[in-house]
Amino acid sequence: MSKPAMSLPRLCIVATGGTIAGAGVRPQATMAYAAGALDVDELCARVPGLDEVAGIQAEQFAAIDSKNATPAFWQSLAARVQALLDAGGCDGVVVTHGTDTLEETAYYLHLVLKTDKPVVLVGAMRPATALSPDGPLNLLDAVTVAAHPQAAGRGVLVVLNHQVLGARDAAKTNANRPDAFASPNAGAMGWVQDGRVAWMGWPGHGHTRATPFTASTPLAPVEVLAGYAGGSAALIRAVGATGAKGLVWAGTGNGSASADAQEALDELVRDGVVVVRATRTGSGCVAASGGMPGAGTLSPWKARVLLMLALGAGMGGVQDVFDTY
Ligand code: SIN
Repeated sequence: MSKPAMSLPRLCIVATGGTIAGAGVRPQATMAYAAGALDVDELCARVPGLDEVAGIQAEQFAAIDSKNATPAFWQSLAARVQALLDAGGCDGVVVTHGTDTLEETAYYLHLVLKTDKPVVLVGAMRPATALSPDGPLNLLDAVTVAAHPQAAGRGVLVVLNHQVLGARDAAKTNANRPDAFASPNAGAMGWVQDGRVAWMGWPGHGHTRATPFTASTPLAPVEVLAGYAGGSAALIRAVGATGAKGLVWAGTGNGSASADAQEALDELVRDGVVVVRATRTGSGCVAASGGMPGAGTLSPWKARVLLMLALGAGMGGVQDVFDTY
């Protein structure tokens, strides 16, 4: 770790790959590139002034495209981040991550880490070699947020394109643009610009120390299926054969299902599969109905993370779990 000036916090940057570390074939290329090609030292070297914000210790944890992230990856990343936070000499952690599944990793860490220290996930939409990469400023902003005295206690945060989003609500809402992330239900928790952080919100649900989950909590197999006009109920029935303990139904509108789909979902419930209703719309709040708990304001992908943990921990009262976390 570089020796920080007296008052600077000491932060660990944990790199996992993604477009933020991507290398393209030419500067004009924003889509033809390999994710996770640059190592963490190269990433930090591209950010002037990083060590004026915090004393930085950087490590390469993985170099993956986040579409290849797995529940086992979440668990080992959480164990590593927890170890860094517990070891002393680390006032917070910044995780660089691909944007495609960043929201799932962020929410998982938000639920399992036992800390009040800041943990910030950051990515980029353009590879590091692009004509105007967004990664270096995003990384500087993420470190600035993690170093901020009021970042503690908010659980895991997501920083991209000047916005500070809570891990529970952050979602990738665009496939290409640097402003790809938003919190459709909760709005931004803060803003970061030119070294200044403005806070606007606080997490409304339990997280980190307030959950019973840890990086060692088993993760039950849970699938996600979506409702759409003319969708085949055979796919829903097939979920039972996969051994899934849970299914998140990303339903139309308010989590609704066609008559055919509803019949197949009811069969799954009778067979002991926990079916949670969510919405495919990208925002809104879904209530329980017909013996199926509602995901509330969680997206289908986040509802899956929570259901995997809840069922893995052997928790009953799934609706309470969804109302609380
Ligand atoms: C990835 O998720 O690893 C690739 C896409 C990105 O980071 O934007």
